[in-house]
Amino acid sequence: MTLQRRFLRFSSSYVFSTRMNTIAPCLQTVRFNHSKSDIMDHRAKVMSKGLPEKKPLPGVKSIILVASGKGGVGKTTTAVNLACAMKVIEPDKEIGLLDADVFGPSVPLMMNISGEPMLNDDHLIEPLLNYGVKCMSMGLLVSGENAVVWRGLMVMQALERLTRHVAWGPLDCLVVDTPPGTGDTHLSLAQNLPLDGAIVVTTPQSAALQVTKRGINMFEKLKVPIIGIVENMSHAICSQCGTKNFIFGNDTKKSAADMGLEIIESFEVDQNMSDCINSGKPAIYALPDSIHAEKYRHLANKVFKYIDDKENHRAKAKEQ
Ligand SMILES: Nc1ncnc2c1ncn2[C@@H]1O[C@H](COP(=O)(O)OP(=O)(O)O)[C@@H](O)[C@H]1O
Ligand SMILES: [Mg+2]
Repeated sequence: MTLQRRFLRFSSSYVFSTRMNTIAPCLQTVRFNHSKSDIMDHRAKVMSKGLPEKKPLPGVKSIILVASGKGGVGKTTTAVNLACAMKVIEPDKEIGLLDADVFGPSVPLMMNISGEPMLNDDHLIEPLLNYGVKCMSMGLLVSGENAVVWRGLMVMQALERLTRHVAWGPLDCLVVDTPPGTGDTHLSLAQNLPLDGAIVVTTPQSAALQVTKRGINMFEKLKVPIIGIVENMSHAICSQCGTKNFIFGNDTKKSAADMGLEIIESFEVDQNMSDCINSGKPAIYALPDSIHAEKYRHLANKVFKYIDDKENHRAKAKEQ
């Protein structure tokens, strides 16, 4: 049986139990008319019941999440370029990229990877390698036309496959791209994996920033440290006169300050960047001399520094 067929068989058996799992908490919240944060707390409690303990991924030293409450803000673009930039600036380090967006995986397209992954002798799925980065995505296990509605337990089981059934090690850092929102995927990842930190991507519109705040609150509740905010599509530069146009507004600085967070990098709208990523050649490789590539290398440096500081802190705490 092919890996894709095996995966489909496993996924369909969870449909019914999953529906009950997601509907039951919803009924309670409707009855009592709780606030959004109450619902999140409640779901976190429900999801944590019977979950396995947070265990490290064998051979994986650190895990960094790229997240946002909103879709289309550039999470995958950021995760892909960040993972590639980490490999570019530290070629001896092993970097992985997990596409945890089981609903709409776009890492295969953006990393230009395709084909069914192989199982190794330990029955672990071998990640596919491109640009020196080890990648895994639901898009490689379930083909587009077999897309399933992933919910609750099913999402958890799918993520379990993508994390613990993949031969990730040895890895210095696993970058995890996530779906939009504050849903089952984020809860499941935060409750199952020792996450070192999250980068939150946002665009500067007030609507996006509001959703971003919700995402940041969720991470705080789940005790996932926020490394900082990446502002994407901050502005566009007129190709005729070079004027900066803040087409999506300019509210990120104020919102970041209100939340006590740092904007660790800011990227303007750039058609080249979009063309590159959508043709499977991230800007960091396709346009290495561009301002975007330079900023991604800068971001990668910050992430390495964050990881090193965390490791040093842990080592010191152990000594005491
Ligand atoms: N700075 C940017 N300039 C131009 N296009 C961008 C930029 N960042 C992302 N995009 C484009 O926006 C679209 C959505 O980006 P994506 O990374 O898939 O968002 P998300 O993962 O948050 O849904 C993609 O087509 C991508 O090429
Ligand atoms: Mg995405």
